[in-house]
Amino acid sequence: MYSEKVMDLFRHPKNIGEIKDADAVGKVGNPTCGDLMWVYLKVGKNKTGEEVIDDIKVKTFGCVAAIATSSALTEIVKGMKLAEAEKITRENVADYVGGLPPAKLHCSVLAVDGLQKAIEEYKKKKKK
Ligand code: FES
Repeated sequence: MYSEKVMDLFRHPKNIGEIKDADAVGKVGNPTCGDLMWVYLKVGKNKTGEEVIDDIKVKTFGCVAAIATSSALTEIVKGMKLAEAEKITRENVADYVGGLPPAKLHCSVLAVDGLQKAIEEYKKKKKK
């Protein structure tokens, strides 16, 4: 049912845990299945002064697809410009893991929503 990549990321998830001095944390949940996810962000600047994701970690209490896609998300956006990371879609994440069964597509939404929430929080804090 799952691709090799999904199973690999589920068995050996990357960037799991918390960032103690995170610039922002995005917490999201899926009310239907009860799965929960926290996305921790550390933002820095590149040589041209653009904001980039220096570090990202996730904590996921969820299904195989939720764990695999949140781990995939961290691999995709680590080092990416913040402005580009904002445009990541659930399709990007699902493609990265070699596709998801239709019934599990919604699980990749959690990771993308968590990232968007963390970015939103980061921007709000910056304004203060
Ligand atoms: S079943 Fe809840 S996120 Fe996958």
